[in-house]
Amino acid sequence: MTRMATAPATYFTVVLDQAKEDLLRRGMPIFDFGVGDPIEPTPAFIRQALIDALDPVSQYPTILGQRRLRQSIAGWAERRLGVSLNPDTQVLPAAGSKEAIFHLPLAIIGPEEKRRRIVYPSPSYPVYDGSARFSGCVAHPVPLREANDYRLELAELGSQVLEQTRIAWINYPHNPTGASIDLDYLRRQVEVARAYDILLCADDCYLDLYFGDQPPPCLLQVTQTGVLSFGSLSKRSGMTGYRSGYIAGDASVISAYRRARPNFGVGSQDFVQAAATVAWGDDAHVAERRAVFRAKRDRLASYLRSRGYAVSGSQGAIYLWVKVPTSTPETFFARLLEHGIVVSPGESFGAGGEGYFRLALVPNLEQIEQAIAVWEKVSF
Ligand SMILES: Cc1ncc(COP(=O)(O)O)c(C=O)c1O
Repeated sequence: MTRMATAPATYFTVVLDQAKEDLLRRGMPIFDFGVGDPIEPTPAFIRQALIDALDPVSQYPTILGQRRLRQSIAGWAERRLGVSLNPDTQVLPAAGSKEAIFHLPLAIIGPEEKRRRIVYPSPSYPVYDGSARFSGCVAHPVPLREANDYRLELAELGSQVLEQTRIAWINYPHNPTGASIDLDYLRRQVEVARAYDILLCADDCYLDLYFGDQPPPCLLQVTQTGVLSFGSLSKRSGMTGYRSGYIAGDASVISAYRRARPNFGVGSQDFVQAAATVAWGDDAHVAERRAVFRAKRDRLASYLRSRGYAVSGSQGAIYLWVKVPTSTPETFFARLLEHGIVVSPGESFGAGGEGYFRLALVPNLEQIEQAIAVWEKVSF
């Protein structure tokens, strides 16, 4: 019999898609705060760069990525973070950060490696868990607490766990809570990771999307040794469908990763790399997108607070994180769905998310007003 031990529970977007299909069959309008796939158009200059790069002859993209793109990513790091990255040894373009995250243990943890534990937050983006399972490593979710501002503190894991750990993931601004951190937090994690020779990885998918005035810090500002940062254009530049991200940081780890990557056959198409190059080179469109998500966040958060909901985290990314207001979450989610309001139950992001739900700031302001009018009529 075929064994599917590596397969985690049904990916939560599949579950949401099924619920939405049911609503559509019943002819209901849908207010989709479920999946974090924004609807704001990709800026015209990025689309044009892709069109201009569409050559008549199509050939395989290189695994290393175009030098222009690596330079553009390094240029962004210089402007945004004040750090210098060598585009030839410290930056590796990826076909979206999801595949880069998923393939990391396959690329750097050989069969002889004794330390097979991969630590990641719970709740979290599900791919850290998936990558641990599919690579035959040990998945080690760490419950986050609202009381601790959703911070994963490596020091709290104890030396027995830390000694078995090869990779630790952090992700701020955090999906799903939207929580953020400061530089001191990152310094603490680097110190512990160094002491135990753990590769510390920051999923920086939302680094440029924050609601306050202060941009969140990045691990690369603390050190470029023993750490990797995984970035993405998906939400920053409205390019989820393009599939473009990067891996940056420790040159020796990047070198190992680079050797493994031809086996997976990943590398964005050359025309996507051309679009990515101009996207990383421009900050103005990102400031505009930040303002859009901030306006949506402000409107929804103030409505929910006025109804007595407890909104926590929600300092960045594109999410609101809210406590389920009743003792029967199933009924709460079912009532919202009956009215066409789709949200993500917190536990879809791991057991640490129980008792909360996530709103992805996807509908536009007009749709948010309509959703609020409907929400007003829902009783629980
Ligand atoms: C925390 C986090 N990391 C990574 C990703 C993947 O992004 P990409 O589109 O670059 O694969 C997502 C997408 O939602 C995410 O939420």
